[in-house]
Amino acid sequence: MQETISKYPIEAIRKRFPILQRKVKGKDLVYFDNAATTQKPVEVIEALNRYYSYYNANIHRGLHTLADEATAAFEETRHAVQQFIGAKLPEEIIFTKGTTESINLVAKSWGGAFLQKDDEIIISSLEHHANIVPWQMIAEEKGAKLRIIPINDDGVLDMQAYESLLNEKTRIVSIVHASNALGVINPVAEIIQLAHANNALVLVDAAQSSVHLELDVQSMDCDFLVFSGHKVYGPTGTGILYGKKELLERMPPYQGGGEMIKEVTFEKTTFNELPFKFEAGTPNIADFIALKEGIAFIQDIGKAAIHQHETTLLEYATQQLLTFEGLKIRGNISNKVSVVSFTIDGIHPQDLAILLDNQGIAVRTGHHCAQPLMNRLGIVGTTRASFAAYNTLSEIDQFTNALSKAIKMLG
Ligand SMILES: Cc1ncc(COP(=O)(O)O)c(C=O)c1O
Repeated sequence: MQETISKYPIEAIRKRFPILQRKVKGKDLVYFDNAATTQKPVEVIEALNRYYSYYNANIHRGLHTLADEATAAFEETRHAVQQFIGAKLPEEIIFTKGTTESINLVAKSWGGAFLQKDDEIIISSLEHHANIVPWQMIAEEKGAKLRIIPINDDGVLDMQAYESLLNEKTRIVSIVHASNALGVINPVAEIIQLAHANNALVLVDAAQSSVHLELDVQSMDCDFLVFSGHKVYGPTGTGILYGKKELLERMPPYQGGGEMIKEVTFEKTTFNELPFKFEAGTPNIADFIALKEGIAFIQDIGKAAIHQHETTLLEYATQQLLTFEGLKIRGNISNKVSVVSFTIDGIHPQDLAILLDNQGIAVRTGHHCAQPLMNRLGIVGTTRASFAAYNTLSEIDQFTNALSKAIKMLG
């Protein structure tokens, strides 16, 4: 297949990702595991190198040049994230280890302070374990209940069922924006509006959507939004928790230690202001500094242009995959991010992944940390190909050729 996406600077983009030059098992790497983590542009890698080679220092409390430079660079990322998601204030951006820690922080801190016996928490059948387990833990601790929005066989939320789950006991709705396992996009604006009309808060898990969709927390009006830096072309170990200031101010600290205090005596500690109240200890300075470059990469190409490119890839891959006998795409709807998840009759996803890896193709197989979703669909797992800004149509051809060979070998 010829590249048909005009004007999109695919060659220039690919040159920015050194890893795309490598071979796997003697073949050109085709990296289709982007929903797990994206590759990093050279600007991110260089930012890490520059920090450690030139101005490595601890931040916020030093009175020397290196500490000032590191603090300024670290705080620049907070402003970049604020702008990236349209938050009103920089102190509404809390730095964490990742989406998982951000959700745990809200469940522990907000849930610990405000949830009471018999209160209800709504999640959906599409959730990643990171948006199930923290809520289960706090629900058990507080005697609260977890309520689940059902889906249809294509992974689309049953909005009528959602409406009927909302009631005066509902305190929070914690919902994934785009499913990591299927790619399906949830109608978060409507979900938020209905929750607010019912006096419930909403947390949006934007781990998958942050890289693909325009996000504006103010117009969305979510109360919390979480995502991971490593899925937006940034380093691992960086996560974001956005929260409305008035909510974050009312929440107790998540962890105690340095940075998060104003004054400590053995009798009493007063806590620092936002965002530092939630950032105990030395943070992941280097990786947060480099995260700014991951976001800058997206902004440089433009989310709309990337989205258009990824949609072309998704449509082409979908069309090609549907020609395979016995192949079923799970969540085969149009309102999706660039994830295609499928099963093939009589073939275990794991066997397929090994044979694809032998041909240089990196895809993900299994339950994708969404076991309740797999149970709902009645499958053990899927094979998932997920596309990013640097993928090409000819890589999809390589992938489908490799898939044909693998199926013949397993058949
Ligand atoms: C929808 C969703 N939520 C939560 C997570 C957890 O993210 P992390 O492992 O970066 O904390 C992921 C990761 O794949 C995800 O896709």
